[in-house]
Amino acid sequence: MKYIKDLENLCKKIVLLRLDLNVPIKNGKILDQTRIDKILPILSFLIKKKSKILVVSHIGRPKGKVEKDLSLKPVCENLEKKLNQRINLIQDNILDLKKENLFIDSKKQIIFLENIRFNDEEEKNDSSFSKNLSKLADIYVNDAFSCSHRAHASISKITEFLPSYAGLQLEREINALKKVTTEIKKPISCIIGGSKISSKIGIIKNLITKFDNIIIVGGMANNFLNYKGHPIGKSIKESNIDKLIEETFETAKKYSCKIVYPEDVVVGKSMSGKGEIKLLDNVKNDDFILDIGPRTTNKIKDIIEKSKTILWNGPAGYFENPSFALGSIEIAKKIVEKNKQDTLYSVAGGGDTIAVINKINALNNFNFVSTAGGAFLEFLEGKELPGIKALK
Ligand code: 3PG
Repeated sequence: MKYIKDLENLCKKIVLLRLDLNVPIKNGKILDQTRIDKILPILSFLIKKKSKILVVSHIGRPKGKVEKDLSLKPVCENLEKKLNQRINLIQDNILDLKKENLFIDSKKQIIFLENIRFNDEEEKNDSSFSKNLSKLADIYVNDAFSCSHRAHASISKITEFLPSYAGLQLEREINALKKVTTEIKKPISCIIGGSKISSKIGIIKNLITKFDNIIIVGGMANNFLNYKGHPIGKSIKESNIDKLIEETFETAKKYSCKIVYPEDVVVGKSMSGKGEIKLLDNVKNDDFILDIGPRTTNKIKDIIEKSKTILWNGPAGYFENPSFALGSIEIAKKIVEKNKQDTLYSVAGGGDTIAVINKINALNNFNFVSTAGGAFLEFLEGKELPGIKALK
């Protein structure tokens, strides 16, 4: 893989820059700017190098149709303010564009193409569409790790037509994820939560062979408790999953990985109610398990204390209600404490996990926090992402 940071002469080169500016927008207002802030380094880098930057991104899933609400206009306006320079948003058909006309105004350094998914060739990874896109630039840079699990034209096929490089953020993201998948410092533990075990089983299967501890929390822990014969009352539970759990325990034994699941819980009579700490066998038929209990929290904190690397994906409970947020917050605080002592490498990812970390304002106290959804999960499953493969 070639990296843009190693390329010497970028002056006046037109760089087709694929970014992930898929940010939540309501009535033209951007609700979360994290992804915009993350791409500022690559823009500053290319501005300094005096490149001409042609940005490609998508928002939402318009499926090849123009949808006004999914325009990149609010993102352009936001960036204009952040970078203090004018940005053009081109809404014309890509086929009508000519490279030599793009940057006629010599003061102009950044141009945006409109939401690339307004073209239905994008998701088809269409070859002639990619070729036409490539004619607008001199080189291609992918700085959209979070889109790299998509074999789409502006992520994958485009690399067949232009010299292609990994961007700064993409490189950072891959290096951080390598530290929890291949270049591991042991002991390494993973805290994995969320409501559906079936959506995380690929990750568990991949990590179990190299991790020392896999700690199951959140809604999916109910399946483990149920499998072990504990009552779980009215708590969420996936059906037909016992075979997967059995296999998980068998593989864990083979690879000496410890599977940790709750020893006590916090239950409520409803999601919006108050919590009560219970030992497993005291859970009643009308209880919902909504958080881990203090004994489990202490056990997890002890594992974090002894680990050199931690991967965290998925909260420990229904943290949206403060009565059930303590388990997740205590986990976050313990990781932060170890991080401050510089005795732990920590990677976290997933929207809910980020929301928990934000509750204690600790985003900067993790070594890496990934904003990638599907791409993060697929990488952890050990899959080669089409966008990364294409860069190679
Ligand atoms: C994301 O939000 O994870 C990326 O922008 C990819 O979006 P997608 O799931 O619509 O492909």
